[in-house]
Amino acid sequence: MKQAVKRLGILTSGGDCPGLNAVIRGAVMVAERQGIEMVGFLRGYEGLVDPVSFITLGANNTHDILDKGGTILGSTNKGRFAATVGVNDRQDLDPQLLTGVKQTVGQLNLGGLICIGGDGSLAVAQQFHEVGIPVVGVPKTIDNDLSATAFTFGFDSAVNCATDALDRLSTTAASHERVMVLEVMGRHAGWIALYSGIAGGGDVILLPELSWNFESVCAKILERERAGKRHTLIVVAEGAHLPDGSMVTVERRQDGRQTKLGGIGGLVAYEIEKRLGRETRSMVLGHLQRGGPPSTFDRLLATQFGAHAVRLILEGRLGEMVCFNPPAINSVPILTAVNRLKQVQPNCSAVQAARAMGICFGDQIADNSLYSVENDCDAYLGLDRPPLTMPNLPLGPVADGISLS
Ligand code: F6P
Repeated sequence: MKQAVKRLGILTSGGDCPGLNAVIRGAVMVAERQGIEMVGFLRGYEGLVDPVSFITLGANNTHDILDKGGTILGSTNKGRFAATVGVNDRQDLDPQLLTGVKQTVGQLNLGGLICIGGDGSLAVAQQFHEVGIPVVGVPKTIDNDLSATAFTFGFDSAVNCATDALDRLSTTAASHERVMVLEVMGRHAGWIALYSGIAGGGDVILLPELSWNFESVCAKILERERAGKRHTLIVVAEGAHLPDGSMVTVERRQDGRQTKLGGIGGLVAYEIEKRLGRETRSMVLGHLQRGGPPSTFDRLLATQFGAHAVRLILEGRLGEMVCFNPPAINSVPILTAVNRLKQVQPNCSAVQAARAMGICFGDQIADNSLYSVENDCDAYLGLDRPPLTMPNLPLGPVADGISLS
């Protein structure tokens, strides 16, 4: 006879994002009402093996965390479980680690383990599932690039943060008649740039999914000037490719983790100032997008994800991941969600609406040869840049921003 679940485990893995604590709280509240104890492993998967580290979770230590950013359990995107770096890049975990995790799960008599993470962390959860460790997944990332869920929690909060930054940048840009460039996160997906660019009144949006050129961007600035608008707001995704197809990086990691993107905003500003002689400033919004309290939408989504994750375990639906299939919360096999990137479809309704409003994606061919000067990107970067091009990413089926397998 199947044993009743008496205790569950939960952990948060990978980069943090607003809403992680709301998932934990939601799961704990549901479990408590079923008489199930919850333990929270510390520092992501690391807490599962030598030295095993966890805390017992209950109303006493979770009742006031709904609105808190970060994660009370801690997280890491480094260490022994970072071997799987995500998209299209499965690397098998050390079998000894898997044995260690099995032992911990057995010794603590866990009926299931709730793994909250992005594509890399969920790929680890998938490997646990394959060796019989009872897991379910909860998708999180500000990047919103996970297949099989319309939205991940954390994304809305990040978009709010970027939109607020654009609101602030626009008043100073207008006062000084400047071009302002805002670089936002998102890795290889342009969701944050697209959504905040539209919501924050951006004039130009540069995405990883659409190739663009400086001539088109400059032509847009001049078009605005002809219409009497002497300032321009540009949003660029950190993973947008330069016109030659390469990407701008902060560092190339030697430890197998994903290359750290960043710096394209400064480069775009430099090129505009050089070509047009207009005063241009740039800012990198960075980790502000990941910190702070979750938005109302993210609290709602994260809380439901936590509650449904417990339900999945109680229904024996191990190896599945909760997902948002508006308006319902559903689940899919973790396998269908990992290793497939959900990118912006160039023809999705958000892009179409933006184009119809005159927002420039930098992909129109400018007919003004005055601005067709050589790109000076390498000189700006001050280096002999090794080419870094987009990895060959398998894309999930995406319909207008919603990908459902
Ligand atoms: O995946 C989330 C994310 O915030 C990306 O948008 C960004 O490129 C990356 O993580 C930053 O990672 P780190 O925490 O290592 O700086």
